[in-house]
Amino acid sequence: MILLTGGAGYIGLHTAAVLIEAGQQVVLFDNFSNSKPLAVKRLEAIVGRAVPCVEGDVRSRADMDGLFDQHPVNAVIHFAGLKAVGESANQPLRYYDNNVAGTLVLLAAMQRAEVRRFVFSSSACVYGEPDVSPIPESAALRPANTYGRTKLMVEEILRDLHVAAPGWSIALLRYFNPVGAHPGGQIGEDPNGIPNNLMPFVTQVAVGRLPELQVFGGDYPTPDGSGVRDYIHVMDLAEGHRAALDWALRDPQEVLTANLGTGRGYSVLELVRAFEKASGKPIPHRIVARRAGDVPAYWGDPSLARQRLGWTARRTLDDICRDAWNWQRRNPQGFA
Ligand code: NAD
Ligand code: UD1
Repeated sequence: MILLTGGAGYIGLHTAAVLIEAGQQVVLFDNFSNSKPLAVKRLEAIVGRAVPCVEGDVRSRADMDGLFDQHPVNAVIHFAGLKAVGESANQPLRYYDNNVAGTLVLLAAMQRAEVRRFVFSSSACVYGEPDVSPIPESAALRPANTYGRTKLMVEEILRDLHVAAPGWSIALLRYFNPVGAHPGGQIGEDPNGIPNNLMPFVTQVAVGRLPELQVFGGDYPTPDGSGVRDYIHVMDLAEGHRAALDWALRDPQEVLTANLGTGRGYSVLELVRAFEKASGKPIPHRIVARRAGDVPAYWGDPSLARQRLGWTARRTLDDICRDAWNWQRRNPQGFA
């Protein structure tokens, strides 16, 4: 059985759907600090069966030991964490507690339970402002914010753990920009409050919840002046987790660090145009000042994931926009 911490969240739900369809048994574990129990019901409707979900906190030793006592877990995918870059600057202790201390409690419980296969949700933000794109895994690691530092710290903890306990198999997955939704439209991204990220902002403009998109910066050294990112469909990302899990279940007893991206970038304005085409909805937008802390352009080199995991992102920007719109139009208020 595979434990998905943070399994009721955006990426966890989509990964659970892919793993269950592939025949895996999963147990979700979540404190619902950034998700809703209804989302798990939607997952159950997609896969057509009950999905065990335990409410608890990765920072609680009792919760973690109880989970491993009650479920025959043989691998863990660790999604649970806080992910808002701006918030992480204002609440550093909360972020280090959740993301770093929480992971330590989980790892110690895994050691007691003798579970040694671990897939970790890292982020491309461990690279900070890169020297080149596409970014290889060997690039310098200099995260530019607190959130990114929590991810890099956990990566380093896991490398140290592997030196001391070489029996562990650990995949560090550095995601680029996850977007889109399950094609059925029952699950998708449902941020609290006004979205910080581009795609949920665009979908909420399309559905009439927000009046217009602000494009942060029109004078970057990019083809159209707007920022460029590597947007990856969340279903491709979920399939990347399945590949990493299959790798870990073969007990390679190493630490594998892999980018999960598409290998190409799109600008904000390209994404807006693709979304307008997919949805048939105009997206009123206005170019405003750059957002503090933003990198002009970057995208990932996914060749290592292809070689080592046999995984490549297959879905296009049009697929991403179609599925993001399908989710939002069927659920204008998200999971509310
Ligand atoms: P999400 O917020 O939708 O999901 C995270 C889940 O973890 C939520 O359901 C939340 O309730 C739960 N959680 C948080 N703290 C917890 C705790 N202490 N105990 C138990 N559960 C807890 O976020 P997501 O987009 O699905 O991201 C999943 C992981 O991927 C996170 O670790 C995030 O940092 C990482 N990541 C996300 C992105 C992205 O753009 N979405 C990019 C790179 C990395
Ligand atoms: C942000 C985080 C990153 C995290 C990622 C995915 C920062 C500095 N980085 O990345 O750590 O892994 O989210 O969750 O915050 N944009 C607009 N208008 C908007 C929103 C965004 O023009 O209303 C632009 C941004 O300037 C950027 C692009 O859209 O060029 C993507 O932004 P966003 O979705 O926030 O992701 P990142 O900034 O790449």
